[in-house]
Amino acid sequence: MAHKLPARGRPAAEVLADLKTFSSADPDYRHGRLWSLAYYQDEDYAAFLGEAYSAFAGANGLNPTVFKSLKRFENEIIEATAALLHGTPEVCGVVTSGGTESCLLAVKTYRDRARQVRGVSRPEMILPVTAHVAWFKASEYFDVKVRLLPLDKHLRADVAQLERLINRNTVMILGSAPEYPHGTIDPIEAFAELALKHGVPLHVDACVGGFILPFMAMNGRKLPLWDYRVPGVTSISADLHKYGYAAKGPRPSPTATWTSSSTRCSSTRTGPVASSPRRRCWAPGPGAPTRRRGPPCSTWASPATAIWRDAPSRPSTGCEKASGRFPGCT
Ligand SMILES: Cc1ncc(COP(=O)(O)O)c(C=O)c1O
Repeated sequence: MAHKLPARGRPAAEVLADLKTFSSADPDYRHGRLWSLAYYQDEDYAAFLGEAYSAFAGANGLNPTVFKSLKRFENEIIEATAALLHGTPEVCGVVTSGGTESCLLAVKTYRDRARQVRGVSRPEMILPVTAHVAWFKASEYFDVKVRLLPLDKHLRADVAQLERLINRNTVMILGSAPEYPHGTIDPIEAFAELALKHGVPLHVDACVGGFILPFMAMNGRKLPLWDYRVPGVTSISADLHKYGYAAKGPRPSPTATWTSSSTRCSSTRTGPVASSPRRRCWAPGPGAPTRRRGPPCSTWASPATAIWRDAPSRPSTGCEKASGRFPGCT
């Protein structure tokens, strides 16, 4: 029988006890029995995230001019993320509802931009075959044809075949850092050279890598360049609910950042105002086609404690340079 609302209210303790039983069939992610999906540290940290979250659970991020606290969280998350990814002060961005939304925003933005600036009516995008499924979803949502870039024999996107896929309908190229199936960082510098040559935007999907690669580099790992240090990279998505260890669940909080030259928030359409750092954006655009309603407070809190709480074990100078804005990293 379909579930129905109870006829009478029940004591809170009883409801909470019921809720606990709901998780009995879930995987035991707390003890390392799950790869990916949940990025769990320990009970103390989970309790801390819960406390930060519940402090703002009643707030509504739909209108940041009313809930200034939420807008502040978003601004500071974006500013710190942009700095971590070596963005210039012009880089702006938004906190989204998930990595998938960040990918969707990139496709919509580049499709609209190509339509407005170059009159492209049959948009295409170039995706390595290893692109996350979110990109194929975006293709269907926004009617942008996918041109697939195959892999070379080392399972890396075959940059030698990239140029032949670019044409006047190309609205964006995608590279991942890393891609999900093999954990390989696509050859972003080589992609960027071609992107610049043909005047096509290049998005880096760092949903997995955005909050771990910078720290691997700070710890002395030699990594290829993949972020805003590479001329030609015009936007990056990075998930705080993965290796940023922000709260997962109904309100995850990844980020999407954009260089201003590629995706200025410029529509004059009237509508709900949605500020993004350093730019005021009106829907639609990279500012906020959809607004998350949940408070990103646990997200704001998480990097400060999860990533940087053991700052002494990491090269502190790199940490300070990358993100002086987060507490614990000064
Ligand atoms: C590379 C990459 N991009 C995008 C996503 C989508 O992120 P989300 O699951 O938060 O929507 C994922 C998720 O694993 C991913 O690995």
